[in-house]
Amino acid sequence: MAEEILIETQDRVGVITLNRPKQLNALNLELMKQLVAALEAFDTDDNLRVIVLAGGERAFAAGADINDMADSNVVEQVKRNQFARWERIRRISKPIVAAVSGHCLGGGCELMMHCDIIIASETAQFGQPEINLGVMPGAGGTQRLTRATGKATAMDVILTGRTLSAAEALAAGLVSRVVPKEHFFSEAMKVARTIAQKAPLAVRFAKESVLKAHETALSEGLEYERKLFYLLFATQDQREGMKAFIEKRKPNFTGE
Ligand code: HXC
Repeated sequence: MAEEILIETQDRVGVITLNRPKQLNALNLELMKQLVAALEAFDTDDNLRVIVLAGGERAFAAGADINDMADSNVVEQVKRNQFARWERIRRISKPIVAAVSGHCLGGGCELMMHCDIIIASETAQFGQPEINLGVMPGAGGTQRLTRATGKATAMDVILTGRTLSAAEALAAGLVSRVVPKEHFFSEAMKVARTIAQKAPLAVRFAKESVLKAHETALSEGLEYERKLFYLLFATQDQREGMKAFIEKRKPNFTGE
């Protein structure tokens, strides 16, 4: 079985590195399975206090793996129930620090928004380009991006598919800190080590409490978003958008 993620521990910090560099860490189903298992193992390990989730220099993650979705349909999407895994990431009780460089798009941006503190390289680029594939964000993007940045930026990013630079993401409140590109991982480790020295229960409750502020009434939004995401797999444009990506050509959207 390919190692879609790498795992190590450094002192009281559990480090997970996404490991599909050739595919820009596109989140395939196996990677998501391994990621959730690793997060839950770290979460229940009493020797660890904080988790760092890192991508590579070129990409944190360029989205869900389009090859996994191109031939899907609404029934298969509902049965696949992939969002159960995302819910489990949401329930991790230890703080997760994201170390982000390069492309951070679609499901990659949504994964980053599941993390608690985001350290971004000055090279990082953030976006929800699902609209270019004939679909829309499905793992919380419409809800969390809007909460983080406000409606104006979220609409701009989600409806046009454009990316935000690291500086724009910082100004919009999407990331915690922006650092020179050679420091994105070391800074994330530094932040993690700082938190690892705090009282674990206070950290746990503080995280829970901040999320409460962030998430009130989120459930309804997620429910709604998910149904609409599924529904888009009943359209021709979903097929066309994903097929065009794989065939490296421009999509011809018809509104069907
Ligand atoms: C599958 C992907 C991928 C993806 C990149 N690759 N993103 N494969 N799914 N999301 C693959 C490419 O096909 C290519 O494979 C290799 O990674 C390198 O990518 P290139 O396109 O050659 O690199 P570059 O020209 O530098 O362009 C980088 C890029 C572009 C701008 C990030 O790859 C891109 O637009 N990717 C798709 C981004 C996207 O649409 N994300 C949203 C996905 S939908 P080969 O084999 O040719 O070398 C989504 C929905 C989430 O996330 C729903 C909830 C889970």
